Amino acid sequence: MMKIAVSGKGGVGKTTVTALLAHILAENHQVSVVDADPTLNLAMALGVPGSQVAQLTPLAEMKELIQERVGASGGGFFKLNPKVDDLADRISFTYKGIRLLTVGTITSGGAGCACSENVLLRAFLSHLLLEEQEVVLVDMEAGLEHLGRRTIQAVDALLVVVEPGQRSIGVAKRIKHLSADIGLKRVLVVGNKIKSADDAQIIKRHFPAEEILGLISYSPEILAADLEGVSPYPGISPAVKQELLQLKNKLIRLLSQK
Ligand SMILES: Nc1ncnc2c1ncn2[C@@H]1O[C@H](COP(=O)(O)OP(=O)(O)OP(=O)(O)O)[C@@H](O)[C@H]1O
Ligand SMILES: [Mg+2]
Repeated sequence: MMKIAVSGKGGVGKTTVTALLAHILAENHQVSVVDADPTLNLAMALGVPGSQVAQLTPLAEMKELIQERVGASGGGFFKLNPKVDDLADRISFTYKGIRLLTVGTITSGGAGCACSENVLLRAFLSHLLLEEQEVVLVDMEAGLEHLGRRTIQAVDALLVVVEPGQRSIGVAKRIKHLSADIGLKRVLVVGNKIKSADDAQIIKRHFPAEEILGLISYSPEILAADLEGVSPYPGISPAVKQELLQLKNKLIRLLSQK
């Protein structure tokens, strides 16, 4: 129904934005979130208690399962189309109505690299994006380039999180160009950590209005939640909640026009 990947420079707020959007979308949709980031912070950002976060094993680390599904490790032959349709149920953890799938990083690897976990992770992500009927949000550090055309086609929008600053804007522009090259349908910018009207202007100067999905203010509550290891969502100010609602509505509007 709505498949969204979230990317951007390190530290801009990808995980925070994914978690906030997941909560706001979960108010009236079935939402699955995929943590495909090496730091695996999404569970915490969603609000999953620390003791439970510690028990989550990313799919990338389920060696036996990977071996069983993909075959040989350390050389030999891989099954290139491993069975993955039961994996969501096996690894999912539901929190406040949001289904969390902790996958781990899918690396692009070198040319010809087909490390067995990547084969499984890629096949699983493809399956989720192509077959899942609900909202799927993927927190993804690595790009989408290595995912394969059909999977990329299934992504309705790539959200690129930027903060006011040339480096993050530079990374976002590179992501945008790469995305166009690989045939991604839609790339939308989310300006995050906006502290002033000048900050907002910086984002607006660098991206056309129709590519900006929305702006999220810098908020001390969001940072404080991270320092405490809890979800930022319950503590956001009414103003930030409003920004998120606008963002959500615009996303739904844009995607229903496709
Ligand atoms: N709108 C905001 N206001 C204040 N702090 C924010 C905001 N968004 C994110 N942060 C803070 O910025 C830091 C980085 O956020 P986050 O972990 O979401 O970024 P990320 O892009 O996922 O990072 P990484 O590249 O390491 O995965 C965190 O401390 C987070 O609390
Ligand atoms: Mg992150």
